[in-house]
Amino acid sequence: MVKLGVNIGGLNLKNPVLTASGTFGYGEEFADFIDLNRLGGFVIKGTTINHREGNPYPRMAETPSGMLNAVGLQNKGVDYFIDNIYPRIKDVDSHVIVNVSGATIDDYVAVCEKLTPLDKINAIEVNISCPNVKQGGMAFGTTADGAAQVARAVRKAFPKTVIIKLSPNVTDITEIARAVEAEGADAVSLINTLLGMAIDIERQRPYLSTITGGLSGPAVRPVAVRMVWQVAKAVNIPVVGLGGIMNGRDAIEFMLAGARAIQVGTANFVDPSVTMKIVDYIEDYCQRHGISNINDIVGMINQ
Ligand SMILES: Cc1cc2nc3c(=O)[nH]c(=O)nc-3n(C[C@H](O)[C@H](O)[C@H](O)COP(=O)(O)O)c2cc1C
Repeated sequence: MVKLGVNIGGLNLKNPVLTASGTFGYGEEFADFIDLNRLGGFVIKGTTINHREGNPYPRMAETPSGMLNAVGLQNKGVDYFIDNIYPRIKDVDSHVIVNVSGATIDDYVAVCEKLTPLDKINAIEVNISCPNVKQGGMAFGTTADGAAQVARAVRKAFPKTVIIKLSPNVTDITEIARAVEAEGADAVSLINTLLGMAIDIERQRPYLSTITGGLSGPAVRPVAVRMVWQVAKAVNIPVVGLGGIMNGRDAIEFMLAGARAIQVGTANFVDPSVTMKIVDYIEDYCQRHGISNINDIVGMINQ
């Protein structure tokens, strides 16, 4: 028997496999394809204080080994989540992590305060890295000062596990990671999408209504692995790794680089049952390599 449990800033996960925000809806959409109880947890879509329509269409474009999106945090707001979605998912036997976004610091705080009383929500992931909104989002995540301000405010407003999701669109991601650790973040997750752009040469127009968008999928994986490796060495809090994980092999790659847990994003669009295959692969990999506890492989390349 391989021990697959990991701890992310006080949150005990039965295995290191989570899903990535914005690629897994509210979880229930995937219940026909997978057993949600077999996940370490799932991160629900970006949630804001008020309803958001998101950006105009088109807001998705396929690129070689990846996709660009500019969804722009479309969601019905935190009250809708609490009244309509939460009652339907609160009995699942894995962690539900809410991804929180805001245009101002007060927005982040207001969402945190509404989530705090919910028994099932033991962790939030704070998105300071969305490249697809004009206000807030990535603006906070690209300076150490901005990131620290959000981390400080949510730390006060949410007493349970706080994971800060970092942007890769920076020169030195370790500086941002250290800044949020200093403000009391329990963990960091990385990476969000890389800012990208693609042009339809026949129409002579960008594919996306917003011109630029966020690149995800296998194309970003080497960048993400490098950043996870750098951040894991720079901070003492756990690192959640993501970016282009398509299968179990990729998940192990992130853990060897230093991720204590991983998230699966774009791959859910290709194969909605991929997370179950990844859980099985991780267990099988450990058995093949004589590893009895998954925690032993975290950051192994540095040992
Ligand atoms: C359609 C789409 C919507 C997304 N929405 C969010 C979001 O609301 N909040 C967030 O923090 N990240 C969001 N992301 C980023 C993903 O959670 C993830 O960080 C990124 O896609 C890299 O992982 P991947 O290559 O496995 O998809 C979104 C990504 C996609 C493709």
